[in-house]
Amino acid sequence: MTEKENNLDQLINDPFKGKSGFMPAKIKDEIKVRIGLNENLAFPEELMKKLIKEVAERVDPRIYPEDYCDSLCNLIASDYDLLPNQVVIGNGGDKIIDLMVRLTIKAGFSAAIIAPTYPMYEHAIKVQGGDVTELYLTDAPEYDLDPDYILSNITPKKDRLLFLCSPNNPTGNQFDEHKLRKIIAEFPGIVALDETYTDFGGYSLVNALKDYPNLIIMKSMSKFHGMAGMRLGFALADEFLISRLKELLPAFNVNIASLELAKLVLQEKEALSKIVSNIVSEREIVYKRLEAIDGIIPYKSFTNFIMFRLDGMDAAEIQQKLLKEKGVLVRNMSAIPKCENSLRMSITTKENNLAFLNALEETISNY
Ligand SMILES: Cc1ncc(COP(=O)(O)O)c(C=O)c1O
Repeated sequence: MTEKENNLDQLINDPFKGKSGFMPAKIKDEIKVRIGLNENLAFPEELMKKLIKEVAERVDPRIYPEDYCDSLCNLIASDYDLLPNQVVIGNGGDKIIDLMVRLTIKAGFSAAIIAPTYPMYEHAIKVQGGDVTELYLTDAPEYDLDPDYILSNITPKKDRLLFLCSPNNPTGNQFDEHKLRKIIAEFPGIVALDETYTDFGGYSLVNALKDYPNLIIMKSMSKFHGMAGMRLGFALADEFLISRLKELLPAFNVNIASLELAKLVLQEKEALSKIVSNIVSEREIVYKRLEAIDGIIPYKSFTNFIMFRLDGMDAAEIQQKLLKEKGVLVRNMSAIPKCENSLRMSITTKENNLAFLNALEETISNY
């Protein structure tokens, strides 16, 4: 560090000291099969293009969007049978995570995460100057929640927030509803339940919001709704928590095009339910084929991705071979606790799924 940089460093509130690295390294190779980030490429491109054209007709980018996206809150509230004041919209699910941490955490306080899970929770807690209470799921392959262990390892008043992710990224499993309810009922703080993947899973706890004033449910429109590039997420909770979250938002935090597109996508109910059933049936096909490959141990998934462990092969090496030799981008999860030597692939189109399976089989047979 130069002297000038050193002087600047003294002024900066960055807990990562320039070594954050949350995002995967920039990929320079040509990608033919993009299945590393759980984007929803099963959402028909033609339909998305049609909706985007409609958005272009509707919006005037010279003017600011609605301040709290009220028209979208109304639509979401009616879909979930809630009041519009029970919805807050943010610039992506990650913004909602950040907002939850800002709402509850400052230096001297902590938020709990249950590893292995989505790394952005830990990132947001550290950015806010809070401490991370890292608790764990049981070992693979169950990756289960143990409510008694979790509840007895948190510090009341210090652990103000608990992140739960169900179905969980990267393990793919959805936790037992009663276990989640027990934790929400007994945790002496706010529970942020991330339901980004519930549309591909078995159930949602939205109808439990009325039972638990400390529960906030976070959703993203990047996966099921195919809008990763538009950056839209939302949270559902009791009116009290939502009004407090809204106070923290910068003005006009969602752009006018994303807001309009979200409203159009939400109305495509038939297309959305077809997309889900395609992903679910493809997921089963991919799982079975992975299971049949020697040295591959896939985990049951309730999401649009499958994580699998490699036995007798190096996951990082296989990931690089898939990328450089076949143009297939999967994500290496090995650095995450309890996910040693594991890769994660997203379920997208039949063609992509097949291309991935063939590439993986070939790579392994030449290993
Ligand atoms: C569990 C989980 N929550 C939240 C997000 C954030 O989604 P986005 O910021 O794209 O809306 C992701 C993205 O991968 C995720 O996997």
